[in-house]
Amino acid sequence: MYMCGIIGYIGLKKASPILLKGLKNLEYRGYDSAGMAVLSSNGIEFRKGAGKIEEIERRLNFEELEGSIGIAHNRWATHGDVNDINAHPHFDCSKTIAIVHNGIIENYKELKESLSDHNFESETDSEVIAHLIEEELERGLSFEKAFMSAVSKLDGNYAILAIKADEEKILTARRGSPLVVGIADHGIFLSSDIPSFLEWTKKVVYLQDYDVVVVDRNGIRIHNLIEGEVSRPIDTVEWDAEQVKKGGFEHYMLKEIIEQTETIQRAIQQDEDVVKRIAEEIRRAYGTFFVGCGSSYHACLAGSYLFSKLAKTHVNVVLASEFENYEHFLTENTLVFAVSQSGETADVLEAVRTAKRKGSRVIGIVNRMGSSLTRESDQFLLMNAGPEICVLSTKTYTSQVALMTLLAYALLERHEECVEKFKELYMDIYNLTSRSMRDYLKRLAEMLADKEHIYLIGRGLQYATALEGALKIKEVSYIHAEAFAGGELKHGPLALIEKGTPVIVFVSKENEERILSNASEVKARGGFIIGISAERHEIFDYWIKVPECGDLNPIVQIIPIQILAYQLAVLRGLDPDKPRNLAKSVTVI
Ligand code: AGP
Ligand code: GLU
Repeated sequence: MYMCGIIGYIGLKKASPILLKGLKNLEYRGYDSAGMAVLSSNGIEFRKGAGKIEEIERRLNFEELEGSIGIAHNRWATHGDVNDINAHPHFDCSKTIAIVHNGIIENYKELKESLSDHNFESETDSEVIAHLIEEELERGLSFEKAFMSAVSKLDGNYAILAIKADEEKILTARRGSPLVVGIADHGIFLSSDIPSFLEWTKKVVYLQDYDVVVVDRNGIRIHNLIEGEVSRPIDTVEWDAEQVKKGGFEHYMLKEIIEQTETIQRAIQQDEDVVKRIAEEIRRAYGTFFVGCGSSYHACLAGSYLFSKLAKTHVNVVLASEFENYEHFLTENTLVFAVSQSGETADVLEAVRTAKRKGSRVIGIVNRMGSSLTRESDQFLLMNAGPEICVLSTKTYTSQVALMTLLAYALLERHEECVEKFKELYMDIYNLTSRSMRDYLKRLAEMLADKEHIYLIGRGLQYATALEGALKIKEVSYIHAEAFAGGELKHGPLALIEKGTPVIVFVSKENEERILSNASEVKARGGFIIGISAERHEIFDYWIKVPECGDLNPIVQIIPIQILAYQLAVLRGLDPDKPRNLAKSVTVI
């Protein structure tokens, strides 16, 4: 996955300056804490702390660590607060094993219970890995075997590096989180991403899921937990450092759209008990508000349809900048959900403060741990989408909608079912972001690139998608794009339709008949109909095929429009990552 970063080094040079540089080169992935452990003649020595690397370095002086074998970590907290203790590395009870971990160990609670005689220092899920290895060592296994056995007990996703006092090696394993080996003249690197060591080498080995690797002074040995001993080819990267950060894509926007295959899965990996407790609070609340701006507001709107239709629960959806007008309805029994990718949007924070003044309870839905929203809300759910660099929200929008869906199902006490439904979505999202789909949408973009107006229509949940689609197109391509509820056309917007006016129509099974009849009103006036649906209908001039996913339609149906918006920007010679006049975090009111 695309967040935080780990790096290990074993070689002829002093490890700490190399690791420090590596951590700085991984900063772009987002992090809130950093740390390092090095093998020295006195065993394992380490430094770790919360904050920015420069500042931690001034405070702790990483480069004091001597030794030529070490591991280091930039943390993006998922379990446990952002503080010095929760920063990685983590240790076993005797501090002879140090590990760093990127990802989420889903079954850490069960594992921790089975290790009840161990002394845990942090609140992280990751620490369990060090104690599991310790447990296996106590059974008489070698470090390598103990590591392998510990790893095979983990559910979730991980890239792990481990070292042990008196063993001149680094052990590593990956599943779901990226990990690549860099082979330099003076040593070997293990890292989440290539820029961290690009200065030293361009020779890389990409590790695969379930690979467990032993790296010592003789080289690397790869054992795959499913396939057994394997060898992986050595590649040479030709990218420069900037391209590498974009994962080889031309723009962050495209990279982040493609990441949705994984970010959506991460969003729903929430602690079931926490989700259940929040559902209970919604049931008890006397009035629930969903508050956000821009895309986050659209996610709130999608959430309100889901709550109404699925859970038969009423929520008020309010733009954060308009929230003060509803102040009189806030009491101590009101529940306010503040939804924000950045957690720094001034309008949202203002709404949070208004709610708190009235004694209402505030729950944040946020991507950035450590942001103002995580500090000011009474409780928060993390989207876990990793840093979003492009000014446009893409992956964080679908993560927000995923979380809203999870809450709606929790109200129905159908959490498990919801999680299963999302897992089934994996291949669909993969296909929707595939190269062939991107090319297909590029052809559509070529037809639309010179248009002055694009309209989008939908009903119910699809209306929220239409609004979000219009925002995507307008902010990145500067083409005027506007969304309407299908039923509203006849109340005014139909006057805008001329021969060739493009209208994107979001069709769901549930609303099929009515939205197609709205589309035919447009067609009759010469409109060019672009249908987004599972089936082709005669009325369509261009068809974008998406699977019918019922309650999950808002997630699958927005993806083609994100891609279309991207292609429009590129065709019009614009930089999709930095649209004019806009900022990623809007910290002014
Ligand atoms: C949408 O692509 C964004 N440019 C913008 O509308 C954003 O959703 C809005 O500013 C809210 O940001 P937040 O989620 O960080 O609070
Ligand atoms: N889940 C771990 C934590 O909260 C690792 C997070 C990461 O990927 O940095 O510490």
